Amino acid sequence: EKDILERLPLKGKKVLITAGPTYEALDPVRFIGNHSSGKMGFEIANAAANLGAEVILVTGPTHQKITHSLVSTKAVISSEDMYNEVHKHYKSSSIAILSAAVADYRPKTIADQKIKKKDTTFTIELEKTKDILKSLGETKKSQFLVGFALETNNELEHAKGKLKSKNLDLIVLNSLQDKGAGFGVSTNKVTFITSSDEIIEHQLKSKAEVAEDLMQQILKQLHA
Ligand code: CTP
Ligand code: CA
Repeated sequence: EKDILERLPLKGKKVLITAGPTYEALDPVRFIGNHSSGKMGFEIANAAANLGAEVILVTGPTHQKITHSLVSTKAVISSEDMYNEVHKHYKSSSIAILSAAVADYRPKTIADQKIKKKDTTFTIELEKTKDILKSLGETKKSQFLVGFALETNNELEHAKGKLKSKNLDLIVLNSLQDKGAGFGVSTNKVTFITSSDEIIEHQLKSKAEVAEDLMQQILKQLHA
């Protein structure tokens, strides 16, 4: 019994994870999206499942595949879909890790028909999407809440600001400064910042290793 808990410390716990980009429709054939590959989120799902967790992986459109018996994948398209799916599972989750690259804005109206080309310039009016992570921080009970921050300047300051304003327990700062980090590559350079202001800097590593480091950091904080 003790042995199983040591090897599978998250056995019986539900872990909610978001991954990938969101696509925000403009008309029936067009959308606004981003270059997120979903790789980081899928590696986190795998790492959490390897610790025995029951994983709900809510993912935007990606080419990633996962076949772990403990991972249940929910495919979504838009930020609104992702918001709704995440809220179905949040209450019963012990840990939520939001790594998705959610669109901050979406077209204010979606045209019913394909938009025809006309003038030399074309303006799209955008409106803010819901901040999924922030909404989880606002309704947090006993969940351990983890966010990501992608920054290009004043990185630590911005990441700390997000940790506070979104009521997180841990934030993973993604450094885009480094060539081997970020979108479309299989390596990442991250810094963890905890709610007690601890800063843990990591070297450039594979996304699989970053995922394992992240799960170990979460276990450490949960047991502290
Ligand atoms: N996030 C989210 N819902 C959104 C936007 C962001 O859940 N609508 C989450 C991301 O998954 C990530 C964290 O919030 O875990 C931070 O995302 P990021 O884009 O770095 O920060 P923003 O708060 O969107 O601020 P900005 O893009 O202006 O830096
Ligand atoms: Ca953003």
